[in-house]
Amino acid sequence: MRTGWADTERRDVRPTEQAPYAARRRAALSVMFPGERLIVPSGKLKVRSNDSHYPFRPYSAYVHLTGDQARDSAAVFEPREGGDGHDIHLYLLPRDSRDTDEFWTGMTSELWMGRRRSLAESELLLGLPCRDIRDAAAELSATPGTPTRIVRGHDPALEAAVTTDAERDAELEEALSGLRLVKDDWEIGELCKAVDSTVRGFTDVVRELATAIATSERWIEGTFFRRARLEGNAVGYGSICAAGAHATIMHWEQNDGPVRPGELLLLDAGVETHTLYTADVTRTLPISGTFAPLQRQIYDAVYEAQEAGIAAVKPGAAYRDFHDAAQRYMAGKLVEWGLLEGDPERVFELGLQRRFTMAGTGHMLGLDVHDCAAARTETYVGGVLEPGMVLTVEPGLYFQPDDLTVPEEYRGIGVRIEDDILVTADGTENLSAGLPRSADEVEAWMASPAGA
Ligand code: GLY
Ligand code: MN
Ligand code: MN
Repeated sequence: MRTGWADTERRDVRPTEQAPYAARRRAALSVMFPGERLIVPSGKLKVRSNDSHYPFRPYSAYVHLTGDQARDSAAVFEPREGGDGHDIHLYLLPRDSRDTDEFWTGMTSELWMGRRRSLAESELLLGLPCRDIRDAAAELSATPGTPTRIVRGHDPALEAAVTTDAERDAELEEALSGLRLVKDDWEIGELCKAVDSTVRGFTDVVRELATAIATSERWIEGTFFRRARLEGNAVGYGSICAAGAHATIMHWEQNDGPVRPGELLLLDAGVETHTLYTADVTRTLPISGTFAPLQRQIYDAVYEAQEAGIAAVKPGAAYRDFHDAAQRYMAGKLVEWGLLEGDPERVFELGLQRRFTMAGTGHMLGLDVHDCAAARTETYVGGVLEPGMVLTVEPGLYFQPDDLTVPEEYRGIGVRIEDDILVTADGTENLSAGLPRSADEVEAWMASPAGA
């Protein structure tokens, strides 16, 4: 069994389109940590049960710095003598040899899980020197005097091989997260692809609404997932397919409820590209095709709040501005409807509207759906918008079914509208503008043969 196999080494591998962009991202990280060794692991397979594993998802900062998605890998920045930059290499798991028992019996070997790249192939593909990860612990521990930082929580063996300080490691994670706040042109292109696939996934759902009515929210989840797997890697987060009162549950992912005409369907879903960039879009649709008067009243308020939010997104604006603009608008509406009392500005300042708006109005978007979450407060939530940032604007109003403070007809209605907004040099571009947004547009879309 161990002999008689062809040489399958690929010698025609070309660098990824992303390789020069990844090189610039590494250079930007390098200048932040002169004289220090940096270790950014990709992560390990997670056991689901016995010899079954969850689908592997590499740590986003590793993907950002390398363009690679391999498990059991790490990017290592070795400081050059004299503090002048870093020599950067990857540790990777090379191909299995059929000469080993591991190839035949190890449940994570190529025989069982598919071909990996050789180290030489990885060098051609990624444009970096590549070494065997199985040598990493010995090589890293051989120079204990090198000041080192590692991102914790992804590779216990590498963490054990080096001596680091938790606070300084957290600063590395923070820096990696902050490095992703402004997307380069290639990343923006990937996010456009993610959004375009997502638009097609939403259209699939509208086309198949009759089957969903005859079955359940699961049909909607499956319909969107099919598009995500066909055109991308997967969904970027668990799809929220929330019909009726489920729409008032912020992250309803069970998706096992009925889909009833006369109610609303809140669909929050995003395709993740093959390169792992995700969209994050929400539309709230009248299942029968037209909004009832109260549904439309609430929908229109959320739409106007979103308009106010999007208008507040611009380079130089405080990150919090779009959130405040949308929240202020909804506070005014809730007072106008008699659901909250007092001066609308005071209601907004006290945050009383949050009983019905629940969540923040948006977040950064990229390799992670809630991207850059570890970035420093000063550069993210306390920071200023810059061209190249991509964020969601997603106001919502949610009236819980058991909220006795609102008239009965409001209870169980939830509306969110979420779009993916690119900050440009002079304003914004709505990347998800391909989906109808106003109530009239949504109704027309659902009635049109193209949509339905
Ligand atoms: N899909 C989760 C969110 O909108 O943030
Ligand atoms: Mn979102
Ligand atoms: Mn969402």
